[in-house]
Amino acid sequence: MKVPYEKPVIRKVQIGLSNKFGSLYGRHIRPEIDGVPVSDLVTRFGSPLFVFSERRLREKYRQLYQLFSTRYPNVQFSWSYKTNYLDAICAILHQEGETAEVVSEFEYEKARRLGVKGEEIIFNGPYKPLSALKRAAEEGALINIDHFDEIYDLEEVAEELGRPIKVGIRLNMDTGISPQWTRFGFNLESGQAFDAAKRLVSGEKLILCGLHCHLGTFLLEPRAYAKAVEKMVDFAYQLQEAFDLQIEYLDLGGGFPSRNRLKGIYLPPEIAVPPLEDFAEAICDTLLSKLRPNDFPKLILETGRAIVDEAGFLITTVQASKRLPDGTRSYVLDAGVNILFTAFWYNFRVELEEDVPGPAEPCILYGPLCMNIDVVADQVQLPPLPRGARLIFSPVGAYNVTQWMQFIRYRPAVVLIDPNGQVELIREAENLEDILARERLPERLKL
Ligand SMILES: Cc1ncc(COP(=O)(O)O)c(C=O)c1O
Repeated sequence: MKVPYEKPVIRKVQIGLSNKFGSLYGRHIRPEIDGVPVSDLVTRFGSPLFVFSERRLREKYRQLYQLFSTRYPNVQFSWSYKTNYLDAICAILHQEGETAEVVSEFEYEKARRLGVKGEEIIFNGPYKPLSALKRAAEEGALINIDHFDEIYDLEEVAEELGRPIKVGIRLNMDTGISPQWTRFGFNLESGQAFDAAKRLVSGEKLILCGLHCHLGTFLLEPRAYAKAVEKMVDFAYQLQEAFDLQIEYLDLGGGFPSRNRLKGIYLPPEIAVPPLEDFAEAICDTLLSKLRPNDFPKLILETGRAIVDEAGFLITTVQASKRLPDGTRSYVLDAGVNILFTAFWYNFRVELEEDVPGPAEPCILYGPLCMNIDVVADQVQLPPLPRGARLIFSPVGAYNVTQWMQFIRYRPAVVLIDPNGQVELIREAENLEDILARERLPERLKL
């Protein structure tokens, strides 16, 4: 058999190197997920394949709920749909006791269809169409207002309903986080938030009963939350004094990090990511020290990523290997940034289904798209992988199965492993019919 020519390269093979945190290049082998062999999953559902662990999801939620509820007496988690709105994932978290946090009429409709009551929905976001606002107000959802135009819209809705509507306002503020997210809500330091409250009071159609903020995502600084709590409590009492308003809830949004490896951060997640206890402590300690005696407004947390990210895995298969002109070994996988959008920000853990002999070398992993940006991992130390070798990426449970795009390829199946190790399909792989269902070909263009 004629062996194809490969340009020779000299490359320092870095085996067994370690930094002060341990082995940098150790091989990670994962033959199974929650006891289910990876090979069985692929045989049944194909590759690539998203796999969610119900056990891990429930455990993470319970851990977080316990961290907060043991420190503060009035806590409610509200599931951030945008982080992952697969019905099965939402249903598990609603079963655990989460309400729904939505930011569009689509997410609102999805939550309602799933059986979530209107009054168990928090409606956030910078654009809430009038029709969506009407429905949400009618059904008793908690609406956090983003800007003055929304105040006017909601006043119109209140007029139509013939009754006042209880609302919250979203705040943005300086908590030491950079960049500061100033585009959402009313700014606190400039007095804009106070003006919004004044406007609400004078309109007499909306009753301000809650304060909301969301500082950012994958935040590594618990003190930023402490600062936000401090400012929100001060503001709540300022409103009480100025307008006799009773703030019933403080909604701190989401933003806690998962154990993922953010690009550009040298330290491993075990060291770079503060434990979730630190966030609970910063928030609850500040609340308890700032609030007046016997005043316990509801603490709402819209945590998304920290709950679902580590419950999600992506199985992908090597389709080809190549040497780049600079000698770098590269592999073409069947999963790219079309389904793994968060690859732009994270260096995932990449595990092999089974060990492969041979020295590891830094590799680049490409997806199947005919696009130069389709890189799902860079500088991963891998042994020489044969075609068909399977890799498992994690954690990928947050923002991938919502931000994925139907671009060039069909989106793959998603399965859930229940706590007894049973595997259930929770989203079928797409096919041509799914995509064509919405297209219309004018008669005159038919071939
Ligand atoms: C208003 C709001 N709440 C909650 C979240 C969830 O954030 P995370 O997944 O970082 O916890 C987001 C994310 O953007 C958000 O915009």
